[in-house]
Amino acid sequence: MKQLIIFATGNKGKIREIRDIITDPNTEVLSMREAGVSADPDENGTSFEENALIKARAVYDVIRQKKEAGTLCFDTTDTQITVMSDDSGLVIDALGGEPGIYSARYLGYDTDYNYKMEQIMKRMENVPDKERTARFVAAVGAIFPDGSEHVVLGAMEGVIARGIYGQNGFGYDPFFYLPEYGKTSAEITEEEKNAISHRGKALRAMLAQFEAWQRSGEAAQETDAACGDHK
Ligand code: IMP
Repeated sequence: MKQLIIFATGNKGKIREIRDIITDPNTEVLSMREAGVSADPDENGTSFEENALIKARAVYDVIRQKKEAGTLCFDTTDTQITVMSDDSGLVIDALGGEPGIYSARYLGYDTDYNYKMEQIMKRMENVPDKERTARFVAAVGAIFPDGSEHVVLGAMEGVIARGIYGQNGFGYDPFFYLPEYGKTSAEITEEEKNAISHRGKALRAMLAQFEAWQRSGEAAQETDAACGDHK
């Protein structure tokens, strides 16, 4: 049986990251666009985990409906489909966890990130260095081919800097200082970041769960076959 993972994102960086992690030649990864599906549910959960599952469920439902209507644009013969999705954000301890699940929406979706970071640094002007701890958090949610729901969390610890440094990455990376690198996460390379990032950790944990699920299915099939031999 082939495995197809549809990742509920339009972000090419996320697709690249998950393709880098998956080495099994029997498992293919498609973005929503590549799979010809779209879903834009209200992410009204109260945690990263809930929001990741809301997205995964919405895409799973669209795929099920299209499969029933025979309108999927890819071949599903001998293929099991898994839907995965992520939700992530920046959690700053001195701000009581803000912006958290509202990281993308903070001060407006379309607001320039330099402005968002400047405003946060202003709010934190009087916060001493040792209290500037923060973390990027990512939840990866998945609906496996048997309909079971799974969710895992990953985090990357750092400190909110007092300035903006680096051109790599995106979003809040330029003021997220990684003490062990002596750099912000916008100053390290994409490969370095993927190795330590919240999303990388959550994706690897989810793939480990998926592989364990596959192995348990194979084990069940082998048991059935062995029982068949003795009938
Ligand atoms: P989403 O999970 O794609 O909805 O993204 C949530 C938001 O969190 C992003 O728009 C960024 O503002 C922020 N964010 C999540 N991960 C990162 C990261 O690795 N670097 C910088 N910002 C991030």
